[in-house]
Amino acid sequence: MGTEGRIYLYPKWLRAWHGLNALGIIVLIFTGINMQYASPDFQLMRFDLAIRFHNIAGVLVAVSYLLFFIGNLVSSNGTFYQIKLKGLRNRLFLQIRYYAYGMFKKEECPFPVSEKRKFNPLQKYSYIAVMYVFVPLVIISGIALLFPELIITEVYGVSGVFLTALLHASVGFLISIFLIVHVYVASVGKSPFKNYRSIITGWHE
Ligand code: HEM
Repeated sequence: MGTEGRIYLYPKWLRAWHGLNALGIIVLIFTGINMQYASPDFQLMRFDLAIRFHNIAGVLVAVSYLLFFIGNLVSSNGTFYQIKLKGLRNRLFLQIRYYAYGMFKKEECPFPVSEKRKFNPLQKYSYIAVMYVFVPLVIISGIALLFPELIITEVYGVSGVFLTALLHASVGFLISIFLIVHVYVASVGKSPFKNYRSIITGWHE
């Protein structure tokens, strides 16, 4: 749907998911760092509170993920997440070239937003990786750590809980890196706040 140069790209359910997810992930990162590096000399917040908030935020992210997953299955938003391998290398190259060079030379962006194309190729494949690989992995490993009796005791002599915790923290780290890049890239464009406004109002200007 588009009116006077505006396109409605972010329906209410998607904005609700995005808000809950962003809040949950920020709390998870903050409390996760506190738990990972806790020592007598370093404490951002009380350790028992960090655990409690981490668990609550984990449940929030897991439940809101269901909204994202089912929403994408039953609505047209899912079409923006379909993988198209033909010509992908070239499309990624054009977008990387734009971010590294063309953007600073005020060139036209190679994949302008339209009703049919919400994401540029780099956005699309990073969103696919984060939403269909990293976030599910962090949720599944998080549930396993909440119920450690579910985890295999040992894998080749190494503790299953240790391996699960390692996977959980590593994927959490990758999501943190994604978040930094995501927030920066969302500020790139005609005005730094344009995209932030869109994910709140639903309209792409
Ligand atoms: C303070 C935190 C965040 C801010 C300011 C932010 C900002 C934005 C903005 C401006 C957009 C719309 C423009 C675009 O598509 O790039 C967006 C979309 C999106 N964000 Fe975020 N974001 C945040 C956190 C997150 C987190 C933690 C995740 C995932 C782990 C995430 C995943 C996504 C996805 C998948 C979309 C596209 C949704 C769709 O249209 O289908 N965001 N975000």
